[in-house]
Amino acid sequence: MDFLRISDVGVDGLRTILDATARVKANPDAVKGLLAGASIGVFFEKPSTRTRVSCEVAAVHLGAHPVMLRGEEVGLGKREASKDVARVLDRYVDALAFRVFRHQHLEELAEYAHGPVINLLSDIAHPCQAVADLATIAEHMALPGCRITYIGDGNNVCNSLLLGGAMTGMHVTICTPPGYEPDPVEVSAARAFTVDTGGSIVVTTDPREALVDANVVYTDVWTSMGQEGESAQRLRDFDGYQVDLAALNTASDQALFLHCLPAHRGEEVTDEVMEHPRSMVFDQAENRMHAFSAVLLYATGQLPQW
Ligand code: CP
Ligand code: NVA
Repeated sequence: MDFLRISDVGVDGLRTILDATARVKANPDAVKGLLAGASIGVFFEKPSTRTRVSCEVAAVHLGAHPVMLRGEEVGLGKREASKDVARVLDRYVDALAFRVFRHQHLEELAEYAHGPVINLLSDIAHPCQAVADLATIAEHMALPGCRITYIGDGNNVCNSLLLGGAMTGMHVTICTPPGYEPDPVEVSAARAFTVDTGGSIVVTTDPREALVDANVVYTDVWTSMGQEGESAQRLRDFDGYQVDLAALNTASDQALFLHCLPAHRGEEVTDEVMEHPRSMVFDQAENRMHAFSAVLLYATGQLPQW
């Protein structure tokens, strides 16, 4: 099955993937070689460190052959229509894992490819990141009832965290400057999950109100890949939304700090917070690899019975 948004797998599917992530991390040998003989087309239209390396390493560990593709060589939607790229790659590989500018390209790939299509980040979602984020929090506290505050840009990472948090019964507060709120469609989709999961969603522009009592404080860059031309304006607009020590101290006593990375130190987060004993950012980065193994096994229907 496809994994374009974290909600694609439903509440039970996400629970299964999070459980698998923890199991893969605790006992990597349990999944070694499970995808022997398979090939995966892994495509990047934007830069990447964590996603590229963790996906390639995870695929090899599972026994699959990752065919690494760069945006400029494929020319998705330029050199060739995405529906044609999908049908060609489909003849060679068993799954596609793509990082793209336009989410619509993923939807076209998913429509035309028979095998699973996994989103490695698009303009509106970063679901594999959210699995790693939730798995990292779950190493420290129960997800249902946990209070998480995301402070910064209402972007791809924010959207997937919002949905994933709602799906796991978390109390999610999103705090952005005016004009940078997450898309109301994403907020409504998340709210719909909270009816059954007992979670809640608050969207605010007030950082202090957002941070009080938070168990987890999360931020991401103010200028995402492809938005570099807006950087100067964004630096002005996000003034007052930095996660510094005072912000972390406004949250609950043992609050964890998370960031999907790469971090722009001195902009959305200070050095002091990145290096803080309660900063879990490198565990979170490691968990991208275990999360990708879990997602790939789930999407290809190869998760073990444990
Ligand atoms: N967090 C994340 O997706 O990092 P990369 O852009 O380096 O892959
Ligand atoms: N929001 C960031 C996330 C990077 C992993 C971006 O899209 O550039």
